[in-house]
Amino acid sequence: MSILVDERKKVFTLHTKNTTYQMKADSLGTLLHIYYGERTDDSDKSYIIRFSDRGFSGNPYEVGKENKMYSLDVLPQEYSCYGTGDYRISALKVQNEDGSCAAALRYKGYQVSGGKYSINGLPAVYADENEADTLEILLEDPDSKVEVHLLYGVLEENDIITRAVKIINQGKAGIVLQKAASMNLDWINGGYEWITFYGRHVMERNVQRSELDHGIHAIGSVRGTSSHHYNPFAIVCEKNADEEKGSCYGFSFLYSGEFLMEAEKDQVNQTRLVCGIHPDNFAWNLQPGEEFDTPEVMMTYSAEGLGVISRNLHKTIRKNICRGEWKERRRPVLINNWEATYFNFTGEQLVDIAKNASELGVELFVLDDGWFGKRDDDDSGLGDWFPNEKKLGCTLKELAENIVGCGMQFGLWFEPEGISEDSDLYREHPDWAVVIPGRKPALSRNQLVLDFSRKDVQDYIIGRMTAIFEETPITYVKWDFNRSICDKFSTALNAQSQGEFAHRYVLGLYRVLETLITKFPHILFEGCSGGGGRFDAGMLYYTPQIWCSDDTDAIERLTIQYGTSFGYPVSTMGAHVSAVPNHQTGRITPFSARSCVAMAGTFGYELNVTKLSEEEKEQVKKQICRFKEYYDLIQYGEYYRLLPPSDRQCTVWEMADQEGREALVSAVYHHVGTNEEPVIVKVQGLKAETYYQMHLNMDGMETMQDRDQERLVKCLPYGYKNGEAITGAALQQCGLVIPEPMEEYQAWQIHIVEV
Ligand code: DGJ
Repeated sequence: MSILVDERKKVFTLHTKNTTYQMKADSLGTLLHIYYGERTDDSDKSYIIRFSDRGFSGNPYEVGKENKMYSLDVLPQEYSCYGTGDYRISALKVQNEDGSCAAALRYKGYQVSGGKYSINGLPAVYADENEADTLEILLEDPDSKVEVHLLYGVLEENDIITRAVKIINQGKAGIVLQKAASMNLDWINGGYEWITFYGRHVMERNVQRSELDHGIHAIGSVRGTSSHHYNPFAIVCEKNADEEKGSCYGFSFLYSGEFLMEAEKDQVNQTRLVCGIHPDNFAWNLQPGEEFDTPEVMMTYSAEGLGVISRNLHKTIRKNICRGEWKERRRPVLINNWEATYFNFTGEQLVDIAKNASELGVELFVLDDGWFGKRDDDDSGLGDWFPNEKKLGCTLKELAENIVGCGMQFGLWFEPEGISEDSDLYREHPDWAVVIPGRKPALSRNQLVLDFSRKDVQDYIIGRMTAIFEETPITYVKWDFNRSICDKFSTALNAQSQGEFAHRYVLGLYRVLETLITKFPHILFEGCSGGGGRFDAGMLYYTPQIWCSDDTDAIERLTIQYGTSFGYPVSTMGAHVSAVPNHQTGRITPFSARSCVAMAGTFGYELNVTKLSEEEKEQVKKQICRFKEYYDLIQYGEYYRLLPPSDRQCTVWEMADQEGREALVSAVYHHVGTNEEPVIVKVQGLKAETYYQMHLNMDGMETMQDRDQERLVKCLPYGYKNGEAITGAALQQCGLVIPEPMEEYQAWQIHIVEV
């Protein structure tokens, strides 16, 4: 059992393979946080907690006048409350019936069980009975009788601890939850930095590292979705931590709506992190007997740098968050028509693309936006999920069958949460759009949002999509959402309940997704929100892959996918080879660079294959073969960031199989200079005493001009020539030389195989 309880001392210790987490209920009943870090024993470590008389940091009434040393304002706690003497950021803010905002939680009991708890209507890490244990600690506010159940899921092998909270109103009066965070973590020291992932549409998840110095530091979203702008994932680390060393903590929020992650360094240099639903648009009414479940946070700790944090999360997302038939199955190589045609296509053109792509080895054709209603641009039609047979020249079923007849699977784009003012759905149900009555709503991409907090709206969408799925041979759905939500209001909620809208919307979204994936388990769902606007661990519970960004430029993608890799595995990142000049940046990159970057994701194409030269078509065939050959390594291997995109010349990453038998090192020269220093990286995850051979891959190498062939051979570092074998120790300690670039944006894939 990974959970140890000392009942006499009320000490709770959670062990994972390499980490330990400890808390203790003190004599007052406050649940103190004692320790989270490298694995240690389960002895009581509360000796570490300092008590001192601190001015303006008051004392709970119960401790008596003689104890000025006990203050909630400085004690490390498991779940802090607003209004009763802790003036730092807090996890829980309860408004009582009399209008006061106060709660003081006291320990009442605990329960330990095998397996991992789940959360009603919300995504959560899941595990087999023998893979996880659950600890539930009950706290209560003695005055209001509000109960707070702190849930801890311990996945020993993964080094993961999850947290969520259930709040039950056991009192006689209604309360309003003004804030109900999913976790609070207090460190009794400062000196940390945090790494957060900021961005914008077409440039998501840039890495920012900053000091957690005095004050409140926060990232979050009030956009209805988790957003392009801040990802609900952060790492707190020691100042000297890097990819391979230093103490680091990772926090990933399994939630696709508005969130807030705050960190505060307090008056005595302690650090507190609070994470949960954003309180700005949140006020949840809880009547006597009712309960509220917060979404879940998954935490991991590493004493050995950032790389371990990422790999722990990758493994858990792949194994314990993604679900369904597609979880372990090889995902099909797809072609999406968006950048090939945008809205401007006929059924015949689509079949032509599908046929050509099929001949090259592509397995799935995805019909993107524009196949339904009156939808020839983004001004109209959203909500009218009826095929535009005039445009397609046939029924959707016939089109799908034609495509299936070309040897392809068929996939379809939807934006179920969108509604255009110019749509039949809006004309019929104007009250289904999210607008504030009497105000003109803000438009975004000329569209409004469908009120997913309403059950009738959820049922309507389930019904419409079900009808299409039942009559068309569909095996893939791209679920898009192309705006942020403002003017938040639901005609189905009364004035006192409008503060529930944003969270109810997300619950509605999850209900629709859960219903559809259960009904149609054979369909692979890919999430999308204008690219990566809702790229979060919550969404991955329903859609095992998410379109990473609307920016398909290979060089920009290096930055986006690098940032994304800190919290999410390659198997979840939608990535395609697109045409050049790139549609977002105008940049021209070689085919090899585009395929190399897309192979650090789910891999597919988003261009008009009918326009490719014969030589390019040959390359596509080879790329697909190579992707299939490396599939297990790419999708399930251990991921290492070897050189970041901020390096002067080259971005390099590696996937190594769990046993260290082989690895794939991918390198893209984002800058080609003259007479540059060699690029050398230390390969990871190999066996020190084993010999490896290196095989160099680059698209078009076979058809390269003789002069280039000669140049390549001349400048190839030793080790690539004559299949020389090198030890794992050498590759790991001494390093691997990345061959020089032969052209701008040169990409190399180096397959390292045990001999
Ligand atoms: C945004 C998506 O990210 C694109 O890939 C494409 O599907 C468009 N929406 C279609 O409107």
